[in-house]
Amino acid sequence: MSDITARLDSILKRHATARTNLVQILREAQEPEGWIRPEAITQIAKAVKLPRARVEGVAGFYSFLHLQPAGRYRIRFSDNITDRMAGNLPLLERLCSQLWVERGKVSEDGLVSIDTTSCTGMNDQAPALLVNGWAIARLTQGRIDQIAALIRDQVPIENWPVELFAIEDNILRKDVILASTLQPGDAIRVAMSRGRIEATEAAFNQRSWREGLDVADHGQTETIEEIKRSRLRGRGGAGFSTGLKWEACRNARATQRYVVCNADEGEPGTFKDRVLLARYADLVFEGMTVCGYAVGASKGFLYLRGEYRHLLAPLQDVLARRRATGLLGAGVCERPDFAFEIEIHLGAGAYVCGEESALIESLEGKRGIPRNRPPYPVTSGYLKFPTVVNNVETFCAAALIAFNGGDWYARIGTPRSSGTKILSVSGDCARPGLYEYPFGVTVKQVLQDCGAEFTQAVQVSGPSGICIDASEFGRRIAFEDLPTAGAFMVFDESRDMFEVARNFAHFFAHESCGFCTPCRVGTALLRNLMDKLAAGKGSQHDLNQIGELNHLLQSASHCGLGHTACNPILDTVRRFRPAYEQRLVSLVYEPAFDLDGALARARAMTGRDDAGAHLGEVT
Ligand SMILES: Cc1cc2nc3c(=O)[nH]c(=O)nc-3n(C[C@H](O)[C@H](O)[C@H](O)COP(=O)(O)O)c2cc1C
Ligand code: SF4
Repeated sequence: MSDITARLDSILKRHATARTNLVQILREAQEPEGWIRPEAITQIAKAVKLPRARVEGVAGFYSFLHLQPAGRYRIRFSDNITDRMAGNLPLLERLCSQLWVERGKVSEDGLVSIDTTSCTGMNDQAPALLVNGWAIARLTQGRIDQIAALIRDQVPIENWPVELFAIEDNILRKDVILASTLQPGDAIRVAMSRGRIEATEAAFNQRSWREGLDVADHGQTETIEEIKRSRLRGRGGAGFSTGLKWEACRNARATQRYVVCNADEGEPGTFKDRVLLARYADLVFEGMTVCGYAVGASKGFLYLRGEYRHLLAPLQDVLARRRATGLLGAGVCERPDFAFEIEIHLGAGAYVCGEESALIESLEGKRGIPRNRPPYPVTSGYLKFPTVVNNVETFCAAALIAFNGGDWYARIGTPRSSGTKILSVSGDCARPGLYEYPFGVTVKQVLQDCGAEFTQAVQVSGPSGICIDASEFGRRIAFEDLPTAGAFMVFDESRDMFEVARNFAHFFAHESCGFCTPCRVGTALLRNLMDKLAAGKGSQHDLNQIGELNHLLQSASHCGLGHTACNPILDTVRRFRPAYEQRLVSLVYEPAFDLDGALARARAMTGRDDAGAHLGEVT
């Protein structure tokens, strides 16, 4: 048996040849050489009892898995707009020229490849890159030269200076989550005590064991009631009521239930989950355990984006400590009727895997293609069992609510948006980093706190969110005004907002999973249109086309990625029209965009009165 076969054999044994672990198996199989050999695919397929083509299909889906040699050192520069603003491209060119390699190709000696990737979640310390999956931030010419020398000398990554890999947390404003002093086990003990008091009373009243259990279940219901009372809404973007989600999962008839923490954090400009996992991992796991207790689940997964690989080992350590102190495993907090385990799955480079049903597919070892919904994960999620999927920040808030009570939390924020929101602030400001505010804070206040000057625009909630201009800085961060998953990207007056939108168009085209034609083709056409405008070859007709594409993407896409892909362009066309107009060639007369016709078509196709609501913004 060759070394590679033997190594793969031990990986497969460790994963008990489970198909659900296929992405993890492939990721580990890739480690020694940076790519997965055809014979490895064959061996894996045989072990997990899947057709070879299926395993290859899964490997081919994820951009961090390679089926061809990709270089012993694989460099990927983060290419969000804030990385661009911080000068990532000249640094990329510098590294390419020092290592004699063309961008996007593998060097002739197979030593190195250099390319870009979507945002790696280091916007507060941009520009950044990944080397074989390990993050390096705060790049400078000096650091690039150092990296080039290390690669030229073929120094193994484990021997690179540790300070190169230092990642800052940059916590700049704390509120209830970031200032939390909750100790491991505090919240879960309080949640359980509600049930225990009731159960003890039941025993005291000499009820039957079954009745006692039913009353103990009442404690789980009480925990869900506290979450409902808090009016907590999901922090991952959609803002669904967390209490209702947990209740629906608890009420679904099933023999098993699951809890999933969505730590995919792929939205460009968002990095708050990275810091929560680095500094507040116990709070995240506490929230997941409270959820497991409340809904009756015995297993939880943390789906960690591949770009945060540096967090994997520290997170495993926190889990080990929780196991050792009885906060995980059989009989959590000495309660014989509650066992709970948490497993970490590392993603492999696919933004769409942040969508909860795609994430579940990936957790099951498949390509991360969003499922048809309904059914929703709360009734049919992981392996078709009821599953709660919540964002990292949502679980942190849930732990605090379990400890302090729902009324305490509901008093923070605004009547329709309770609690706090952690913002990932980046771009043109003196103090980029994490800012936690009660909901209702104005954009103006955030800009003042982070030291932003001459600001012309803020992109709230990333490319799929909303771009606002200076006339709107009095608006508030809240579900009823400016909802956000967390990104807050600042652009001063020197920035070209057309280029901002073009960067986002490239992002969506790159990240479209290709499953449905409207999104696959539509996002590529959008990118091409923006490139055409950038080259000074676009006309009014192309702008009209953007409106038509928005209609197509909104009405016919399978998931949220396609639905929101036009947002950044529509927002910037509406607010920064001169940035587009100066690029138009106006040699040909083009009829104005037929808004009424496009709206009628959108409504006819979808049967929804609000279909194509964005269309008015391009005219
Ligand atoms: C394309 C796409 C990407 C998403 N990425 C994330 C993500 O990285 N993190 C996240 O928590 N939610 C993400 N979501 C939202 C999830 O589908 C889901 O609503 C969320 O995890 C639920 O948790 P919450 O209720 O706590 O917000 C994404 C949605 C879409 C459509
Ligand atoms: S809308 Fe885009 S990302 Fe979503 S399923 Fe379709 S192709 Fe994939």
